[in-house]
Amino acid sequence: MAGGHRLLLENARQVVMVCGRGERFLVRDALRSLAVLEGASLVVGTDGLIKAIGPADAIQKMFSEETFEERIDCSGKCILPGLVDAHTHPVWAGERVHEFAMKLAGATYMDIHRAGGGINFTVEHTRQASEEELFCSFQERLQRMMRAGTTLVECKSGYGLNLEAELKMLRVIERARRQLPIGISATYCGAHSVPKGKTAPEAADEIINSHLPHLKELGRSGEIHVDNIDVFCEKGVFDLSSTRRILQSGKEMGLQLNFHGDELHPMKAAELGAELGAQAISHLEEASDEGIVAMAMARCSAILLPTTAYMLRLKQPRARKMLDEGVIVALGSDFNPNAYCFSMPVVMHLACVNMGMSMAEALAAATINAAYALGKSHTRGSLEVGKQGDLIIINSSRSQKPRFRFPAPGFVLLTHSRLPAGSPI
Ligand code: NIG
Ligand code: FE
Repeated sequence: MAGGHRLLLENARQVVMVCGRGERFLVRDALRSLAVLEGASLVVGTDGLIKAIGPADAIQKMFSEETFEERIDCSGKCILPGLVDAHTHPVWAGERVHEFAMKLAGATYMDIHRAGGGINFTVEHTRQASEEELFCSFQERLQRMMRAGTTLVECKSGYGLNLEAELKMLRVIERARRQLPIGISATYCGAHSVPKGKTAPEAADEIINSHLPHLKELGRSGEIHVDNIDVFCEKGVFDLSSTRRILQSGKEMGLQLNFHGDELHPMKAAELGAELGAQAISHLEEASDEGIVAMAMARCSAILLPTTAYMLRLKQPRARKMLDEGVIVALGSDFNPNAYCFSMPVVMHLACVNMGMSMAEALAAATINAAYALGKSHTRGSLEVGKQGDLIIINSSRSQKPRFRFPAPGFVLLTHSRLPAGSPI
């Protein structure tokens, strides 16, 4: 074989593929032993896809006649799939540091929300901000996520609430999707809060009769691509029946259902998501036993958000129960003005310490299972031939059993294969 390729990563101490048989997600026993190669090399083609992974000597023989735009000696280092952040709110203006002080003094998230703060505070500032301003801060946030190893991120609208401001946010997300070297899954979250002066059913009517038809049109003309629809299903925000109506309308126009549920109060959101065929539900601190079983049966993934449970001092979601029942558990940073975390390694760490997940479970939840939650695990989330060459090289080797070790201590990101040479990461 002769020809040019984008990248050769040579002789890594370990290549943590996560999985290697085309699995779309990992549950139960498959989470005990992730796919790991030792003394291995990896080739990425000019189309950005992985062309080969295997023992270093075999790859060397196979590609001896070929040229590479870049070769990296990975001796003593470890290659992992790029991390996938399955839940973020990264487009907004208006810091909420003052609310942290209120929370430390004893106010709850909903106390602040009811008093017009929280999401509503961010909505006021985001409505006033220009599209350029929003894009600049969003771009900076994405760069910080990339520096922490994220290569695919879900990004929500939801600080506009009215059509004009929601579309402004979605245009900002679309621009980043086209211009920046990071994968983006775009989510319309117009039902993030009930706008002032409206009831939840009235807000749902407006979304269904005005926002969604506009989005459909913009999707058809190729102006804005939206992947998912989200609702904040919560007592005092969107009730179960408004949530159902919005999600059903979104599903009819081909959007994946991926919503906030059972966070602060038990709402039977897990049961609803399973019934409607949702791809994912986030939070789930208050999910019922029946809801958890229903999610496992429906292959509806649970996106757990350790930063939020920590920050709001909530009871932790029952990750162990979900894992035992066979739910597809994924992780997200929930980056937003209330949970200011860009780093999936920190999220994985919190998932281990506060939710009782093993290190291998946390890695699978931040790669293949998070990609599944976004409907993208056929192209992302593991290092396999034919998949996108989204990967990170860390300055950490591994040779002992257990064969996988979480890279948090001394985590050093050396490269991103998707970034053009010289990119400031
Ligand atoms: O996932 N719970 C609703 N939405 C966000 C918080 C957004 C905000 O407070 O601005 C969450 O934690
Ligand atoms: Fe959220």
